[in-house]
Amino acid sequence: MGDAILVTGGAGYIGSHIVVALHEAGYAPVILDNFNNARRDVPARLARIMGRAPQVIEGDIRDAACLDRVFGAHDFAGVIHLAAHKAVGESVTKPLAYFENNVGGFLTLLGAMARAGCKRLVFSSSATVYGAADETPTPETAPHHAMNPYGRTKIICEEILEDLCAADPEWAVGVLRYFNPAGAHGSGLIGEDPADIPNNLMPYIAKVATGELAKISVFGDDYDTPDGTGVRDYIHVEDLAEGHVLSLAQLQQGKGHLVNLGTGRGYSVLEMIAAYQRASNRHLPYEIVARREGDVAVCCAKTEQARDLLGFDAKRGLDEMCASSWAWMQAQDGSKD
Ligand code: NAD
Ligand code: UD1
Repeated sequence: MGDAILVTGGAGYIGSHIVVALHEAGYAPVILDNFNNARRDVPARLARIMGRAPQVIEGDIRDAACLDRVFGAHDFAGVIHLAAHKAVGESVTKPLAYFENNVGGFLTLLGAMARAGCKRLVFSSSATVYGAADETPTPETAPHHAMNPYGRTKIICEEILEDLCAADPEWAVGVLRYFNPAGAHGSGLIGEDPADIPNNLMPYIAKVATGELAKISVFGDDYDTPDGTGVRDYIHVEDLAEGHVLSLAQLQQGKGHLVNLGTGRGYSVLEMIAAYQRASNRHLPYEIVARREGDVAVCCAKTEQARDLLGFDAKRGLDEMCASSWAWMQAQDGSKD
């Protein structure tokens, strides 16, 4: 068996795809998740994809004793840290819960790693750290600007890592700033499954396609973009997952890095709706409504750094994102088919 890797939040949307990518690359992923925002059947579904069950520990990153037990029982070659709260709107109404989990939990995890002498970490950051960037495609050197408490937690965690690496050169850290993850695994067995009404575009469109929601609200058509609707850099979640494997490989050579993970290519809201319509062969009603507060016109990644430092290039396009999402949605119990 290959090197063991701890994946915190490994039962979640992105984490579950990372677990598959690690397995395919010959690693032995170990999931630590409190199942606060993950389906209970994810491990069984992963077992079907991988041909064997991943090791799963039900536990919380805020529980230092639990982490010490986990690190005591394994010799991890690295940690991929995804466990966090991620709903922007909720972070505005419950900032303390966000700081407690995303920052407090992170500090508890770093403490346990340091005690165990495991100093290799891939950290899930976000394009949200750029706020409303002046420059697009946005380079990693663009200034930080938090638009909400969630964004602030990511900036704080990045700064903690900067200070930690400056203080102790034994740490090898990969900070990955995701742009807009989309799509699902090609098997149709794992994907994004928001319990409530989704805040983000792709899962919302997906639920309109199944008939669960009536129509898409397009937040503004008067932006300075070709069709007036917001443009984002959507990246297939399987590409994103593979980026983590590349990041880990660099860390194992002692090379830390901070990179955007995106495609460099943006699509508008109307282009997304049209693409999902093609994939699902369904008419997707939409209505133009007011802009969403805090939204920017365009958010796209500058991708050279990921290519140069990790050898990363997103391979899958928009049609594949929509087709895999649609296959996943259709396989769900909630599908109206
Ligand atoms: P997700 O909610 O599906 O996954 C997070 C997982 O972490 C869940 O399974 C949840 O149960 C678990 N978790 C949360 N708090 C925990 C804790 N205290 N202890 C143990 N487990 C805990 O979210 P996701 O979309 O897969 O996002 C994963 C990471 O990527 C997050 O850090 C998120 O901020 C970051 N990110 C996500 C996006 C996106 O659009 N999905 C974009 C940029 C960055
Ligand atoms: C969201 C997060 C951001 C995170 C990013 C990447 C919010 C407010 N921001 O932003 O922190 O870094 O994802 O994961 O959640 N749209 C509609 N109708 C909808 C939903 C969205 O028109 O029902 C539009 C938006 O105005 C935007 C585009 O679709 O132009 C994408 O929106 P969304 O999926 O929420 O992603 P981001 O705005 O990039």
